[in-house]
Amino acid sequence: MSVPAVILVGGEGTRLRPLTESIPKPMLPLLDRPLLSYTFDHLRSGGVDRAVLACGYLPTAIEEFFGDRYDGLALEYRTEPEPLGTGGGIRFAAGDIDRTFIALNGDSLREIDIRALLEFHRIRRAQATILLTRVDDPARYGLVRTDTRGRVTGFVEKPPPEEIDTDLINAGMYVLEPEVLERIPRGRPVSIEREIFPALVEEGTLYACPLPGYWLDVGTPASYLQAHLDLLRRSRSVQVDGSALLGRDTILLPPVTIAPGAEIGSGTTVGPFVHVGHDARIGDRASLRLSAVLPSSELPADTRLARAIVAPGIGALHP
Ligand code: GTP
Repeated sequence: MSVPAVILVGGEGTRLRPLTESIPKPMLPLLDRPLLSYTFDHLRSGGVDRAVLACGYLPTAIEEFFGDRYDGLALEYRTEPEPLGTGGGIRFAAGDIDRTFIALNGDSLREIDIRALLEFHRIRRAQATILLTRVDDPARYGLVRTDTRGRVTGFVEKPPPEEIDTDLINAGMYVLEPEVLERIPRGRPVSIEREIFPALVEEGTLYACPLPGYWLDVGTPASYLQAHLDLLRRSRSVQVDGSALLGRDTILLPPVTIAPGAEIGSGTTVGPFVHVGHDARIGDRASLRLSAVLPSSELPADTRLARAIVAPGIGALHP
């Protein structure tokens, strides 16, 4: 049976300013595709066929781009009159959903088995199940403690080193029963993580499921750059669109991707680990590595960049 999803895309993305001043975070390009399209692909791979977008900040940009369908995924949009937080946003957008559904942050990249998550939730007859992911640096996040069956016993926010006894963190994706919606107060901001989940822990109906697979929260310029580098690492090749213009003596070191209409000057070295977005222009004798050049950006001749995001009208950011 198919399962609907509510995707939270309403946040202002303040940590990604100035990139998010005119583009909402879910629409930031990642290898020339909106970040949100990767989430759509992930949901499709798990059998989800309907997604409601819980919008807030710059909603029109999202709806105008995607419309009402993305590759077999029916899309709906609900915009909060004022920010309602993660819990309030889920309740506001869920509307008539009356069966088990998935709720997730729309700004993370995930490649985990959604069907395995749903199965875990069903077998335990949970009210809510949090997807957990393993990280190298758990101190930066909130930890989720569970018993051996996966029942959540408590949360620890940004713990001191001596209290770190797990490397599993909340991956921003939940399976929820519709009854959980009624527990979210209406008309004011509510955090599902801080207000609703602790109440479910008291009742013993909140579970958490660790699953392997890629996960990255794209919340900061550093993680946005990391998302590019991770995707480039997989390709290992040099991919140049046929409509891109390369100058004389341009050197491309893999992995590199050059999108349609991009122009690279003579004597410029691009790579390793560089994406150049569509219609971007890089001047002569420049050198770029470990960087993302967003569509329509311009870089003058002789620029030398490493670990940068280049955005149109903004220039180079060094996260
Ligand atoms: P920062 O301002 O940089 O913290 O980013 P953010 O506003 O996106 O906040 P955060 O990354 O903590 O948000 C997690 C997820 O919840 C993101 O997918 C946001 O779009 C979403 N979100 C946060 N607050 C709201 C809200 O009030 N309403 C809705 N609909 N979504 C929200």
